[in-house]
Parts: sequence; structure tokens; C-alpha cells
Amino acid sequence: MTERPRVWVSRPTYPDVLARLQPYCEVGSEPAERKFSAAELAARLADCDAAIVGLKERIGAAEIAGARRLRIVANLAVGHDNLDLAALSAAGIAATNTADVLNESVADFAWALLLGAARRVGAAERWLRAGHWQSTEFKAWLGMDVRGRTLGILGMGRIGQAIARRARGFGMDVLYHNRTRLPVAVEHECNARAVDKSALLRDSDFLVLALPLTPQTRHAIGAAELACMKAQAVLVNVARGGVVDDAALAAALREGRLAAAGLDVFEGEPRVHADLLALDNVLLSPHIASATIGTRRAMTAVAVDNVLAWFGHGPHAGRPPNLLNPVVLAAAATFPHQEPTR
Ligand code: GLV
Repeated sequence: MTERPRVWVSRPTYPDVLARLQPYCEVGSEPAERKFSAAELAARLADCDAAIVGLKERIGAAEIAGARRLRIVANLAVGHDNLDLAALSAAGIAATNTADVLNESVADFAWALLLGAARRVGAAERWLRAGHWQSTEFKAWLGMDVRGRTLGILGMGRIGQAIARRARGFGMDVLYHNRTRLPVAVEHECNARAVDKSALLRDSDFLVLALPLTPQTRHAIGAAELACMKAQAVLVNVARGGVVDDAALAAALREGRLAAAGLDVFEGEPRVHADLLALDNVLLSPHIASATIGTRRAMTAVAVDNVLAWFGHGPHAGRPPNLLNPVVLAAAATFPHQEPTR
């Protein structure tokens, strides 16, 4: 009898969802959330055939150097800037993400930040909890109207589109900028118009970032871009830290060159730039845009489906549905030990 593939899960998830692996694999889940050193990560990867990991696990050539049996890394996230796809592909290791199942939760949360930043929800709550509410004043805590304003979206993938669709209820004009223009039917459905980046920066009252972090998008919003935005504008980031230059953003918010921001992601998180923490016109959350019970379960299920598929089980046997590096399919023949079990 051949040994069953070993699956390492880097954090507690949903045992009943992982149970679908059990007929085919040995599953070992970490009992608690923690940050692994590169050496600890390398040791764990060296001892499994599949790894279900999250954003805290940064996996590149060094971490997989000794991972002789590793065949698939399933990321519990849609973003995959924590994975070095070139290194994984070169080693014939499949990489997958959790695209799609989190679109709606992330879009909801982008709107929560947008509305919360526009209406100063975080600062007002802090003020109330601090016991400052002695009387209700007509002109206190004035915020910005959202209805009828212009929403700009930078990065119009499926999350950006879900954000755009929600703008109908607010009667907004929707502009977007994306690497490639969307099909006209999708633009129509999202009620969104493609513009160049400078027009997006210039015309948006609310600018939401929903683009992946890549070397090309690092600091896509920096001092120069912030200088092009309206002083009354609100910036929302549900994409990745690093897409925004946080120091430049804090300076713009402090100096009144930007009205407010809602941020779920940060450069160097979980550390948050001290200048942002010091400001009242920024609403902060700890990278939780996809954090609903339903969505986190669905993300776990997608990772499980991808692992099962790579080992030759289920409806997608042999071809994980969220494969990020299809080159490994062709390469499987030259890496006999990597070939999916059928
Ligand atoms: C979360 O940030 C994700 O990429 O899924």
C-alpha cells in the first residue's frame, strides 16, 4: 500500500471541512495561530506533500529547498504575494488561491470602511466611549455624504466589480482603472466607466483599492498620486499593504490634503505606521475584509478542493480549480515524484 499524502495546515481552520481530506490524506493542523520562522516553515514544508497556508507564511526558494515531497501549496487567500510562484513552478510545486468565494464579503467590508470613514464612525465611537458625550450638538460630528458622489475603483477584478455593483444603491457615478478594460457587458452590469489612472485620481470622491500587490503595483498610491486627489476625497484600501505608501498617506491625512481613509491592510502589518495610529480621520481594521464565518469556511473548502484535485480526487481531478501556475501541469512529467496520484 502506498503511503497517503501528508497535508500540513498552518493554522486552525474548520475540522469538519478538512475532514473531506481524511479518506485520502493524513492531515496535521497546527493547533494555534502563530508566526513561523523561515527555518520552522522550511522544516514543516519538508515533511508534507501538501501545505494549506495563509498570508503569514512567506514561501520562496529558501523555504522549499528541502521540501522534496511537497507537491502543492494551497493559499488561504485570494492574494498570493506571500508565494514566490516562480520558485514554486521551478520546483514543480502547484500553487492555488481562494479566488471568488470571498468577493462579496470583501466588497461588503470595503463599503463598511467607505461609509465608516465618510461618517467618522471610528472617531465618534472612541469619543463616546471616552465619556465625552454630554449634549447632542447640531453641528457636531458632521461627515460626508456618499449618495450621488463619484466612486473610483483601482483594480477592477471580481472584487472591484462586486464593490461597483453595490454603488447603484447609492446613485453613484462609478469610474475604474484596470490593467485591461472590462468587456462592455461587464462595464454595463457594474455601471462603471474605464478611465486612465490620472482621471481616476482627479475625479474620485471615494477611491477604493482592489488590486493585487506586485512589484508593479507597490506604492501605486504614493505622495505623487495623493497630490492628484481631491482634498475632500476618501481613500479605502482592502487590497494589500504596500499598494499604498503609508507614510505619504498619513502626511496627506494630517495636512488636510485628503479628508479621510479606511484601511484594512498595511505595509509591514501587523505593525501599523505610528503616524496613521495618531490620526482620527482614518478608520483602521486588522486585515479582516474576508472574515465572515461563511467566507472563511468557504475559503477552507476551496483549499481542500484544490489539494484533493491535485492528488487526483473529486470533480477537478488532476487540475486544481484555482491553480496559479498551470505550468506545473506540463512539468509534472519531468518531475515524476510530483505527478498527481490518479
Ligand atoms: C486576503 O487578504 C486575501 O487575499 O484573501
